[in-house]
Amino acid sequence: MRTPLIAANWKMNLGAADAQKFISAFVPKVEGIRGVQVLLAPQAPLLPQLVSAVKSTPIQVAAQNCGADKSGAYTGDVSPVLLHELGVKWVILGHSERRHVFGETDSLIQARLKAALKETLSAILCVGETLEERKKGETLKVVARQLGALQSGTWVEGYDFKNFAVAYEPVWAIGTGETATPAQAQEVHHFIRGWLTENVGEGEAQVIRIQYGGSVKPDSAEALMSEKDVDGLLVGSASLKPEVFAEIVQNAVKSGSDWKNDKDRFK
Ligand code: PGA
Repeated sequence: MRTPLIAANWKMNLGAADAQKFISAFVPKVEGIRGVQVLLAPQAPLLPQLVSAVKSTPIQVAAQNCGADKSGAYTGDVSPVLLHELGVKWVILGHSERRHVFGETDSLIQARLKAALKETLSAILCVGETLEERKKGETLKVVARQLGALQSGTWVEGYDFKNFAVAYEPVWAIGTGETATPAQAQEVHHFIRGWLTENVGEGEAQVIRIQYGGSVKPDSAEALMSEKDVDGLLVGSASLKPEVFAEIVQNAVKSGSDWKNDKDRFK
């Protein structure tokens, strides 16, 4: 049974006062919702504030990136050791903006992932094709190349794969208002599950959550989550307003409770 993982990626939005207001409005709206794991990823300087603000709730805090080493001359990076020390549980890696705006390569992203796992941070690895790559029919090839970060040398001994997720985020759907259809998402998620089965392990592939991201809104959340291999959502712009993000969490779990009765779902 995979618990739905719904994450808010605030990107370079929401200041200290906004974040506090968000928490005050959001927590009461989601407090009663069961069977879902919720993450909030603020800008890095707000991480300690958020960790403290959600301390008495099941909500966990995620960083939007982390350094590829414990310490050293890496101006602008944040050490995974420090994140762990601050009580940050998760880190988002390989986001399309990191790849396409900041030029992060597959090998750098893999190094960041390895460093994060060593410090026992849970990680979300983002993958996804550009519009041009989709048009050329290269979606699955691109996703497979990006999943290469998960080769055998990446994992630490005895790793608990509940602490790892892949987010499929087609670049053409991010911040564009154009969501992938549930069928388009399922096709790639199914491919990712198959890739994980072959390259990471059969049991592992059943435990790893695969999130969809790209213009998710409350209206699209339920249908996306109803797909067999969609186990969560990574939400950007619609996560900035507490009432909208709370509705997404609520809608995601609506379909989640359906899956629990579907014995075939995880076959
Ligand atoms: P979006 O962003 O929901 O604004 O499209 C998603 C993401 O980049 O994680």
